[in-house]
Amino acid sequence: MATKGQAWAEDQRAARVAELRGRLAEAVGESGPLTLEIGCGHGHWLVAYAEAHPGERCLGIDLLGERLRKCEAKRGRRGLGNVAFLKAEASELLDALPGAPRLDKVFILYPDPWPKRRQTRKRFLQAANLDRLAKAARPGCRLAFRTDHADYHDAAGRALAAHPDWESLDGEAWPFESPTFFQDLLRDRRDHQARRR
Ligand SMILES: C[S@@+](CC[C@H](N)C(=O)[O-])C[C@H]1O[C@@H](n2cnc3c(N)ncnc32)[C@H](O)[C@@H]1O
Repeated sequence: MATKGQAWAEDQRAARVAELRGRLAEAVGESGPLTLEIGCGHGHWLVAYAEAHPGERCLGIDLLGERLRKCEAKRGRRGLGNVAFLKAEASELLDALPGAPRLDKVFILYPDPWPKRRQTRKRFLQAANLDRLAKAARPGCRLAFRTDHADYHDAAGRALAAHPDWESLDGEAWPFESPTFFQDLLRDRRDHQARRR
């Protein structure tokens, strides 16, 4: 049975997810395919992607308001109407997506690597979030993951290989090369790609 503290935390999370559902509908409507970048940081990559793919509706999410303000400024300077940014935690955003799967493409570029052994459970790409992604993804949805961190790359590869809903596309050409803030900083790149079965 959940303790009082756990029950309180679950209630708080449920309230955030409900509130997010409203903001999400405002930002990208309630239906239709979506290209999602999780942890979009300063927005360099997604703004370039949206500009090059005017037919796609794009959404970038991040935890940090300051970074999202930079994303918004970039979007405004280029006058792009097909990309929106939201302050949201990724697992909560996925839980807030409506019943019908909407995700066509998902990008996770240089996610926080949580390098210490005791921190690895905080990494985003693992079984519980692959379940959430699979639920929100349309059949054929492409997932592209890039990191500089060898151990996270290996662990993410194992999690993808073990998941029944994702089929590896490793070895396929990277869908869209454009700098990210952290790619410029870290240089190293290790990729995984997968497709929703
Ligand atoms: C290392 S930065 C990479 C940013 C960008 N993708 C790049 O390559 O420049 C990781 C970003 O993910 C965001 N982030 C971390 N955990 C997150 C989560 N659970 N939900 C949403 N964003 C998250 C952080 O705030 C940060 O901006």
